[in-house]
Formats: sequence, structure tokens, C-alpha cells
Amino acid sequence: MNPSKTALEIVHHLPPHYLERTLREDVRAGLGKPAKTLPPKWFYDQRGSELFEQITQLPEYFPTRAERRILEDHAREMAGTSPAETLIELGSGSSRKTPLLLDALMDAGDLRSYVAVDVSDSALTGANSELSRNYSDLTLQAVAADFESQLQLLPKDGRRMVAFLGGTIGNLEPDARAQFLIQVRELLGQAGGSLLLGTGLVQPPEILIPAYDDPSGVTADFNRNVLRVLNAELGADFDVEAFEHVAVWNEAEEWIEMRLRATRAMYVQLPGAGLEIHFDQSEDLRTEVSAKFRPERIEAELAAAQLTIAGQWTDPDKRYAMTLAEPF
Ligand SMILES: C[S@@+](CC[C@H](N)C(=O)[O-])C[C@H]1O[C@@H](n2cnc3c(N)ncnc32)[C@H](O)[C@@H]1O
Repeated sequence: MNPSKTALEIVHHLPPHYLERTLREDVRAGLGKPAKTLPPKWFYDQRGSELFEQITQLPEYFPTRAERRILEDHAREMAGTSPAETLIELGSGSSRKTPLLLDALMDAGDLRSYVAVDVSDSALTGANSELSRNYSDLTLQAVAADFESQLQLLPKDGRRMVAFLGGTIGNLEPDARAQFLIQVRELLGQAGGSLLLGTGLVQPPEILIPAYDDPSGVTADFNRNVLRVLNAELGADFDVEAFEHVAVWNEAEEWIEMRLRATRAMYVQLPGAGLEIHFDQSEDLRTEVSAKFRPERIEAELAAAQLTIAGQWTDPDKRYAMTLAEPF
């Protein structure tokens, strides 16, 4: 084994203080308005990334198992349809399902490198030391970057497959999703290439809600973690336990909303953002949307970014879809 591949350096594309600056901007924009919101990327410090991994093991949280099952059954077909030289995974987290794709792409013949992209340093470090033990023939890169604003900084070598797994696209609201897909299309360039997209499918709320509100409370702990991040990064004084975890199905938008509900009226100081905010008793802070899709919406949103479907697969329960899309 090549020892230089066991401890991979993370390439930082986030400018100095980028995270602190964007956290401050997001907090001012999201908490300084009547209907309070925060973007979900702030869940993922080390503890948040670990809690997300625990969520993926919960019996109620079916998306990870469904996506793994689709990859087990169809990764070879995906790789045969789009035999990439570089696999770029956005929001790669633990990269735990990635070996299914790496093995299939290596068997298809052309794969030379894997690039993991995430805002979470701790997730990148863990994933890459794991992968480098088993894939010493590949060039592995870990890139700390924001997939919403920094795709133009990613490597553009060879024919690329961009994987966006875990249903993470559902965390973007429709306008942000449209912008994101246009940037992915640009990243694929003219040299062919493909997007492999994992999406949760619209299901009855009796199936969806427990996946975001498990009885063991792991998802609640994950949700509250964003308040711990604000306390640590902005010197805020959130009483984390004074917020209740709530998951609701928004029928009109076809998305799950995770919220934190204040159990009492309170003021919160956020000196790092120059803010003092007030919560009424029972006031909600929306921390995540997780949009679920119908096949026709997947097709339409891809088409709007000049991407056409080259293959689509679902799990046996039809709760989750993986779509391979190519530029047209
Ligand atoms: C729902 S998890 C999915 C993780 C993994 N892909 C999976 O399928 O299990 C979302 C991942 O995206 C990362 N993430 C969220 N927002 C991001 C952003 N704007 N830029 C880069 N990574 C982001 C998080 O740190 C986290 O690892």
C-alpha cells in the first residue's frame, strides 16, 4: 500500500473565515425575519455528522437503506451507461455507499480518481482514511467546499460522473435546486459525463414522518445540534433543551419540515452575529426541508438544466429513486 495515501490532505476551497462569514449571514437572514429559518448545512459539525450517521442506521430511516439497495442491484448498469474517469461526490458525508459505485466504475474500466466534496471537515477526514485503505489504485481527493456556490472550483479532468446521494437535493428549495442543477450541468462540461441523483419519492406521511421523528430521539438530537453550533461559533446562549423537535409533512410543497419549537418564551443573544432574537412560546424555527419527488418532477427539473434521463431505478418498495442524467 502506498503510505502517502493513508493520510489524505483536505483541499480547502473555502476561503479563510468563509464558514464564519456565511454562518453569520445565514443567521442574520434567517433569524432576523418573522418566520425563522436556518439552512441545514449548519447541522454538520463533527457531532452533527456523527448523529447523521446514526440516523442512517435507524429502522425508521429508510432512504439510506433504499439507496444502498439500488446501488447493490444496479451500480454496474449505471457504470456501464456512464463509464466515468472521475467520480465527484457532492455532500459525500461518510462516503459509506460510495464503494458500491467505485467498484462498479473500476470494473467498467476507466475510473482513475474520486473526489469527495463536503462542508464538513470531520466527515471528509473519516471517509478518506477509510477509502484510502481499500482504493490505493485510485487518486483520492477530499475537497472542503460549499456545493451551492463553489462547484466551479472542482477538478475538471476527464469524463466525470457527479454523484449527489442521500436525497440531499431535497434540502434545497426549488429556486436553489434549479440554480444548483445548472451549476452541475456546467461542471459536467462538454466531455460527456453524468449526474447520478438520489431522491426520496413522495410517500404517505405515515411512512415519511417516523423517518424524521424516531422514538429513540436521535433525529431530535441532530436537529438541536444546529443550536449547539450557533452557541459554539457565534457565542450564542440558546438553551438547547428548551426546544422541541418537530417533523411535519407539508402537503402543498411535498416536503418534510424539521422544526425546533420553543417550549417557552425567551430572548436569545447571538453576539457573533450582532443579534438578539425573541421566541414566543411555541414559535417554530424551521431547520430543514426535505423535499420528496414524483418522477415527472425529477424529469422536468433536470430538463430545465439541460439534463436528460439516461436511466432511472427505484428500490423494491418504490420509496426512493436514483436517476442517471446526461447533458443534452
Ligand atoms: C443528508 S447528508 C448525506 C450524506 C451522504 N451523501 C449520504 O448519502 O449518506 C448531507 C451531507 O451534505 C453535506 N452538506 C450539506 N450542505 C452542504 C453544502 N452546502 N456544501 C457541501 N456539503 C454540504 C453535509 O455535511 C452532509 O455530509
